[in-house]
Amino acid sequence: MVNTIQNPETQGVRPGIKNPVQETLLTPRFYTTDFDAMANMDLSTCEEEFSAVLEELRADYNRHHFVRDEQFNQNWEQIDERTRLAFVDFLERSCTSEFSGFLLFKELSRQLKNRNHLLSEAFHLLARDEARHAGFINKAMSDFNLSLDLGYLTKNRTYTFFKPEWIIFAVYLSEKIGYWRYITVFRHLENHPEHEYYPLFRYFENWCQDENRHGDFFKVLLRSQPNMWQSWKGRLWARFFLLTVFATHTLTVNEREDFYETLGLDAKEYNRHVVRKTNETSLRAFPEVLDTEHPDFFRRLEQCSENNVKNQKIDATEKPKLVKFLLKLPTNCSTLWHLLRIYLAKPIDAEALRSEVH
Ligand SMILES: [Fe+2]
Ligand SMILES: [Fe+2]
Repeated sequence: MVNTIQNPETQGVRPGIKNPVQETLLTPRFYTTDFDAMANMDLSTCEEEFSAVLEELRADYNRHHFVRDEQFNQNWEQIDERTRLAFVDFLERSCTSEFSGFLLFKELSRQLKNRNHLLSEAFHLLARDEARHAGFINKAMSDFNLSLDLGYLTKNRTYTFFKPEWIIFAVYLSEKIGYWRYITVFRHLENHPEHEYYPLFRYFENWCQDENRHGDFFKVLLRSQPNMWQSWKGRLWARFFLLTVFATHTLTVNEREDFYETLGLDAKEYNRHVVRKTNETSLRAFPEVLDTEHPDFFRRLEQCSENNVKNQKIDATEKPKLVKFLLKLPTNCSTLWHLLRIYLAKPIDAEALRSEVH
């Protein structure tokens, strides 16, 4: 289903500047949207909630957090080659996805400036955080004599068009899954400091609170649009985005088993934990979520991941394109089948749970 990611050793066009990884279904994407539709969204049903999340963003709790302290003044040559490659690959993907968030939020803030002050300010504050995150990771990359050419990335990446509702579903999930990814690594290293080979991980606790706040802002945005949670279409989209994000996460985490191993984490367990937690968190925003406790849920996701590995092996051969296509047909059908079965399995009705609570 998916091509391989380029070898992290690939050298850049200029010394020290890393070539961006080849774009595949699994690399972080860059998005654009319908700015007019976004500007004209009616936010009136959630005014109080918007002021509350905006206050949180204005408070800028992490303004002094992203400063490199003396722990960074070391030579990192003692990190073995395997760990270094896995870590640099992690840094590159993280930097690209933080930067992708920055570009989207910055453009939204700019486009909405004179049309929707509340949203424009909120997106400006979100962009501020993502710029810090991307910059901090890029500095970490420079410790390994690499950096991402963010200007090149801005101009040369393909931008995927998502209508505002899709942006809201997708960004909500990417912020919340980001939160769970960072906090899970942080908590694990707190208990196993022997695996912490670089100080960046110590910054994850406060860092992930930024992602959590970003997610909360998108939650209010979602709840302010009744068609996103009251209609059957909203329900279908909610499940679609959950499935897409969880499938992508499972494939990328299993593909990068090495990186999680360097931290003393089991990739499969880590993925399951992050997916479960993100699904549980989404109950507060989405009309429906997936049933991660269904006995087949992870079995099917992990089968998709194994299919992906099989496809990569086929892609790596010298066979003609048509032969590769035919060889991949059974695995692609199997992946589609498993995804469909997860999608159609009985979901958890978040709205029904909400009405029970209140
Ligand atoms: Fe971020
Ligand atoms: Fe974020």
